[in-house]
Amino acid sequence: MYRTHTCGELRIENKGQQVTLAGWVQKARKLGGMTFIDLRDRYGITQLVVEADAPAALVETATSLGREFVIQVKGEVLERQSKNPKMPTGDIEIKVAEINILNKSVTPPFTIEEDTDGGEDIRAKYRYLDLRRPPLKRALELRHRVAHEVRNYLDSKGFMEIETPYLIKSTPEGARDFVVPSRMNPGQFYALPQSPQTFKQLLMVAGYDRYFQIVRCFRDEDLRADRQPEFTQIDCEMSFVEQEDVLNTFEGMMRTLFKKVLNVEIPSPLPRMSWYDAMDNYGSDKPDVRFGMTIHEITSVAKGKGFGVLDGAAYIGAISVPGGADYTRKEIDAITEWVKRPQVGAKGLIYIKVNADGTFKSSIDKFYSQEDLSKIAEAVEAKPGEIIFVMSGEAKRKVQTMLGVLRLELGGRLGYRDPKVFAPLWIVDFPLLEWDDETQRFYAMHHPFTAPKPEHEKWFYSDKKEDLERVCANAYDFVLNGNELGGGSIRIHNADVQKRMFEVLGIGAEEAEYKFGFIINAFKFGAPPHGGLAFGFDRVCALFGGSDSIRDYIAFPKNNQGRDVMIDSPSEIDQIQLDELQIALSPKGQD
Ligand code: AMO
Repeated sequence: MYRTHTCGELRIENKGQQVTLAGWVQKARKLGGMTFIDLRDRYGITQLVVEADAPAALVETATSLGREFVIQVKGEVLERQSKNPKMPTGDIEIKVAEINILNKSVTPPFTIEEDTDGGEDIRAKYRYLDLRRPPLKRALELRHRVAHEVRNYLDSKGFMEIETPYLIKSTPEGARDFVVPSRMNPGQFYALPQSPQTFKQLLMVAGYDRYFQIVRCFRDEDLRADRQPEFTQIDCEMSFVEQEDVLNTFEGMMRTLFKKVLNVEIPSPLPRMSWYDAMDNYGSDKPDVRFGMTIHEITSVAKGKGFGVLDGAAYIGAISVPGGADYTRKEIDAITEWVKRPQVGAKGLIYIKVNADGTFKSSIDKFYSQEDLSKIAEAVEAKPGEIIFVMSGEAKRKVQTMLGVLRLELGGRLGYRDPKVFAPLWIVDFPLLEWDDETQRFYAMHHPFTAPKPEHEKWFYSDKKEDLERVCANAYDFVLNGNELGGGSIRIHNADVQKRMFEVLGIGAEEAEYKFGFIINAFKFGAPPHGGLAFGFDRVCALFGGSDSIRDYIAFPKNNQGRDVMIDSPSEIDQIQLDELQIALSPKGQD
């Protein structure tokens, strides 16, 4: 037997017991002839002591131990002289009688402790060493726990976990596909699923009326802290349901997760906000509602005072920031520069300070009297001591989005975005379609299988752009603290509605047949009314763990360039493989 206990297990009650432990040497130090060793495994750390009067061979072995050696020790559990209340095993130590070196280790490139001296790149390269550190271990434990609770909950509600294939055909989620060449079908390619969307709908046609899967998805898109090229979804679909049934079921799942994993109660029922209100008030379809500072439209009050920038704008919006009346000129300039960065894209920023004495000081004093400014302040519900920031432009949504970004930044600086405070909500009533000026066509806001609201069908069948823009979908997103955790919709199950959807999206009959023929055909065989959603599993875990970055919650993630630097992938493949696949690469440097 390699061990009788783990390194996180022994307590004062075990005093006097003979035990065998196995693990990694975190550190070994000599103190007045005695050798102290911190022995670590997945469960914790136990202190070992080799006494000064121990047999010479034992002292010698103890002295020879390097960091990360794998050892087995036998000895007696003693009560410690100086206890360490910070460690669960801090009341005891093991008086070592025997050490067996199970394996040596070369010196690790960074310290493997709670906090490490290793930079991000080196830790990524030696991910398996980084994973020995407690923060990553806690992250993976949380991930395991969430998966377990998800399965329990969905199983208790009659959902069946069914696997769907990874080698498929292009899916309709709108990102780029990762493709896999087929040796047996030269010149042809599989696509890796961006989601199991079409398969889960086919499962509904097949009669498996409650499906779920914790499933890997692949999207070749630009990466950010909350995006990985391969990520995991909690993917679900239900038959014979309306939007209300789906929302209730998954609110229940999230409530159970919050309770069981974090011991946090979330409101019942969860708040709901329409997409339009989210955009108007928060400048985002994933609003962070942990704090106010909402956007107010001031177009009519702010116009007509002779200031060209605002007089010529189609939309003028503002937010009011607590404490801002004290900002120095330099601070305001820095915020102005911040919003002018390409990531935000504002042309400029107007400010109005609401002084404690009720007077105003603004960057537009030349055009606006104290009374004019007071009217604006009233419209923004600004209080004394605050600063109002104003933005304007041609496109309402664009201005709102920029104000939304500024709101999040300043809210963060004010400490309003505490990761331990959770404010989940549903965003509902999304527009069905999104117009793209560049390509002069509509795109599906969610995906082309999302159903229009039945009461909006009159606009859906209209040829007018304004009518089509008004059509809302039975689509919904689960939003938490400014992050989209999940989204879904009630699907189209009627062949005529689906045909019209393809028509509106400019997908011709031939293209629809080529891309989605299998599902259109399946729907002819009695498709039940159905709907579902998918949660971003990595995002759920990261936010539960108090982080915005999903990378720490994935055992072996990719970096921002989409590379796995540990295994050095992606990489070139050899000529034999290329020949077998009948693939010729274009000369380097050319497309
Ligand atoms: P959607 O595209 O909204 O919907 O994806 C669902 C959820 O998956 C997460 N997510 C990601 N997480 C990490 N990295 C990524 N690159 C990434 N992309 C998406 C998000 C998102 O909310 N088939 C539909 C669902 C449905 O209609 O049932 C779908 O995939 O948290």
